[in-house]
Amino acid sequence: MLIKKIGIIGAGTMGTGIAHVAAKNGFLVKVYDEFVGAKEKSLATIEKLSASSVAKGKQEPAEREAMLRRLQYVNSLSELADSDLVIEAIVEVLDIKLALFKQLDEILAKEAIIASNTSSMSITTLAAATSRPEKVAGMHFFNPAQVMKLVEVIRGFHTSDETVQALKDVSDKLGKTSIEVKRDTPGFVVNRLLLPQMREAVKILEEGVASVEDIDTALKLGLNHPMGIFALQDLTGIDICHNVLEYFKTEMGDQYAPPLLMKQMVKAGRLGRKTGYGWYNYSNNN
Ligand code: CAA
Repeated sequence: MLIKKIGIIGAGTMGTGIAHVAAKNGFLVKVYDEFVGAKEKSLATIEKLSASSVAKGKQEPAEREAMLRRLQYVNSLSELADSDLVIEAIVEVLDIKLALFKQLDEILAKEAIIASNTSSMSITTLAAATSRPEKVAGMHFFNPAQVMKLVEVIRGFHTSDETVQALKDVSDKLGKTSIEVKRDTPGFVVNRLLLPQMREAVKILEEGVASVEDIDTALKLGLNHPMGIFALQDLTGIDICHNVLEYFKTEMGDQYAPPLLMKQMVKAGRLGRKTGYGWYNYSNNN
């Protein structure tokens, strides 16, 4: 199936990043978010990042203009009806996602594909809310989506080979490398590896073994990670890391339970860059 029109639901960090990279690579993109102000903030982010690319000589002004013309923010879900592919990038709350998948199934043409950018949730469960489970799959991008090269394409129980291939083809056109996650398991591949590391880092901190800064330095200089594990939690959102660990705990056992200190950070509203304060303080430089 040839995909030309992509609908994106959720104009947060991930939805914005995916919309940006899709419009930049020639797709006609419509973005919908029900929250007041989300669309304006998302567009402003893309305008700012693309202006900076032009200033750095990495994008021609005309290319930027064409990219912005391919990007449309819409006011209702029904305006996504002509999409060939819809990528859901909303809050990680199962009941909200299920209600959305049911609605999308009613709105979209029967050949359209519905993909979720969920970090960990079951694609099979989401697909069951639709009448087209063979056309539902995971399409998991990494933050910042404009930069990170990987896309995990995840099979739900019923996902067809055609759907997997179509999403791999889209990933190629986005300049990404895709991997196929053959079984629908919590966290897929990357987060199954990453979240236990985030959990262990907080445990090491709680035990007084080393400071936030030194644990991050250890990973950067000892393992060549581009950024430390605490800085990465701040980038991802500590609430998101916490919620994924809660989900892992429910699905796979107590060994994945979020540490007490992480829970307290979430309760205190120290969620990372987005709140100006997480494991590090961003109030002066963001
Ligand atoms: N949004 C968009 N673009 C960004 C960006 C952002 N938030 N941050 C950086 N960039 C772009 C910059 O504009 C720059 O682009 P150009 O090359 O065109 O100039 C480029 O990325 C490099 O940026 P910098 O030179 O400022 O910084 P850097 O080289 O240190 O790279 C980084 C920044 C890409 C974030 C890098 O530190 C990195 O790769 N960190 C690890 C990120 C990571 O692991 N992400 C996965 C998170 S887990 C996840 O997403 C899964 C989940 O479900 C929880």
